[in-house]
Amino acid sequence: MRSFFVIFTIALMAAFSGDAQAGNPIAGKKVWLTNSCPSCHGLDGKSVVPGVPSFSKGERMMKPDAVLVETIIKGAKIMPAWKGILSSKDMFDVITFIRTLRK
Ligand code: HEC
Repeated sequence: MRSFFVIFTIALMAAFSGDAQAGNPIAGKKVWLTNSCPSCHGLDGKSVVPGVPSFSKGERMMKPDAVLVETIIKGAKIMPAWKGILSSKDMFDVITFIRTLRK
């Protein structure tokens, strides 16, 4: 009986963490295209402005999603803060999309 509860709890945790973490790259692409991200980061993730990281080269991609979200919320250097503009789902979705740009 006890092992049943352990397995049940682990399954429940896996279900929830999966839900919270896994962004949707298709929704993320829409967020990317409709929020002027390409005007600095380039349509395919190749930076078009000096000092902007190129996601196509994998720059910044070693950081975990939570850290990248934090930067998107607060902004950094010339990047505006997206707090109140993008939902947290939008941010995780767009990061999932950005990770697909790596060549
Ligand atoms: C005005 C130019 C500009 C725009 C528009 C812009 N960014 Fe950025 N972005 C930057 C710069 C500059 C940096 C690097 C900041 C630094 O050096 O810490 C950056 C860094 C990032 C990073 C890496 C964060 C980290 O923790 O290292 C992510 C992810 C990111 N941008 C996503 C986005 C997304 C998503 C959008 C659209 C919603 C966007 N950016 C729009 C300029 C821009």
